[in-house]
Amino acid sequence: MTLLLLAGTREAQELAQVLAQEGRDVLASLAGVTRAPVNLGVDTRRGGFGGEDGFRQELDQRRITAVLDATHPFAHRISERTARVCQEVGVPYCQLLRPAWQAEAGDKWTHVAREEDVAALVSPGQLVFLATGRQTLDRFSNLSHARIICRQIDPPEGPFPFPNGEFLVGRPPFPVAAEVDLFQSLQINWLVVKNAGGHASKTKLTAARQLGIRVAMIARPPQPEGLKATTVEAALAWVAAL
Ligand SMILES: NC(=O)c1ccc[n+]([C@@H]2O[C@H](COP(=O)([O-])OP(=O)(O)OC[C@H]3O[C@@H](n4cnc5c(N)ncnc54)[C@H](OP(=O)(O)O)[C@@H]3O)[C@@H](O)[C@H]2O)c1
Repeated sequence: MTLLLLAGTREAQELAQVLAQEGRDVLASLAGVTRAPVNLGVDTRRGGFGGEDGFRQELDQRRITAVLDATHPFAHRISERTARVCQEVGVPYCQLLRPAWQAEAGDKWTHVAREEDVAALVSPGQLVFLATGRQTLDRFSNLSHARIICRQIDPPEGPFPFPNGEFLVGRPPFPVAAEVDLFQSLQINWLVVKNAGGHASKTKLTAARQLGIRVAMIARPPQPEGLKATTVEAALAWVAAL
């Protein structure tokens, strides 16, 4: 059995570690977005498959017998395609999809459907901290009346795309105390977050609650049909039962 593990998340790192310890035949796959990703400890390929045809070929050539999709909840294109292709070719597929975050007492969240909707919430001159990564930065081009800080893992390759912003380099995990210090020192007015769910990256929301900072919470894209696991343990149980 060769399991294809679609990675790119902290949960995928945890899965790879346990699957390696269990001695399973695993091929992990990273999109190649992060320049120096964490070593997963299993055989790992990098970069896109080359579209749907390339993915079908890879399934065939690598003799993949099951696919565990541990990509990010906002990486919906890869999940939709993988679920559909696996269904068509009869390869078992499971998506690890962590539950979305829910607001707690003290949170000041405004739910938005899209990145472009954040601009209407922000007053002129306010400082907006984008914890949404660089890939979707262009969707905030209508925030020209605000100041922007965009956190990303890798050092920037070029200047900030808008005159009213800057990059901040940081690699997770980010402890709550560090997030509190950062948000306080920057004096941010809005934190913009994708509703990714999960424990590790929830620290920014805890920090925002402690400081009374408003959060623009971007809703998840639709997820594919198909089997889901909500925890690493449940995903491992699915693999064990194959
Ligand atoms: N979107 C986010 O907010 C976010 C946050 C944290 C981490 N990530 C991680 O970053 C990666 C890319 O995210 P995305 O939102 O750009 O994905 P996406 O829009 O769903 O997929 C775009 C393309 O990236 C390639 N791809 C995505 N994940 C891949 C993987 N694990 N292995 C090989 N190719 C992959 C595929 O290229 P081909 O068509 O050429 O196969 C896919 O068509 C994902 O692995 C995801 O887990 C995303």
